[in-house]
Amino acid sequence: MDISVAIDGPAGAGKSTIAKIIGEKFNLMYINTGAMYRAVTLKAMNANITEKNVDDLVKLVESLEMHFEEERLFVNNEDLTDMINMPIISNNVSKYATVAEIREILVKLQQNIAKKFNVIMDGRDIGTVVLKDATFKFYLTASNDQRARRRYDELLSKAIDVDYDTILNDIIKRDYIDTHREVNPLTKAKDAIEIDSSALSINGVVETISTYINSNTKNIQHSL
Ligand code: DC
Repeated sequence: MDISVAIDGPAGAGKSTIAKIIGEKFNLMYINTGAMYRAVTLKAMNANITEKNVDDLVKLVESLEMHFEEERLFVNNEDLTDMINMPIISNNVSKYATVAEIREILVKLQQNIAKKFNVIMDGRDIGTVVLKDATFKFYLTASNDQRARRRYDELLSKAIDVDYDTILNDIIKRDYIDTHREVNPLTKAKDAIEIDSSALSINGVVETISTYINSNTKNIQHSL
């Protein structure tokens, strides 16, 4: 049976960790759409193109071939996964992600991947725009403090020097931009299941999602 899973939610809610595990469990290709916006940000910053220079941004994005290999993002055959997760990219990506022309190109690319493969995609507009007809939609949240704490621990474990308050403020700022932009803002799809992971372990969230998919997949199969 063809299935697709959409996972949306704010920064640091645990979307990518959960999506990777669920992807393996249910044999779905994991597509991290945030990585695509991050790659555009990295390339644009390297080329000194600001988010206001839309013509040059569009030319730049059209020159990028993006694909995933085992959850790593390759852009024009270069693995950018580590670079795009640096704090400088996190702090600038929301600005570039507000540009409608860029979103249009990336959304099409994401939809084309989903036409070819059974996917689990995480991002901000997956259940509302990219995969409006996804078989399953989840909206993952957690308290600001939990999300900042997780990002802080993750960066420390990669030996990236960070300060907790800076991370917390960056997350709050990024959420504001992501939820208030004009085009495809972050919002819960009406038919998405909301999961607050503040008090749940990774296993707890995986269990909740897996149970939901398993019981509803049976229902879908029965009704065929
Ligand atoms: O998931 P992430 O933190 O890596 O996403 C980085 C940024 O990209 C996020 O702040 C907003 C943007 N984004 C988006 O606008 N739409 C998506 N589908 C995914 C990410």
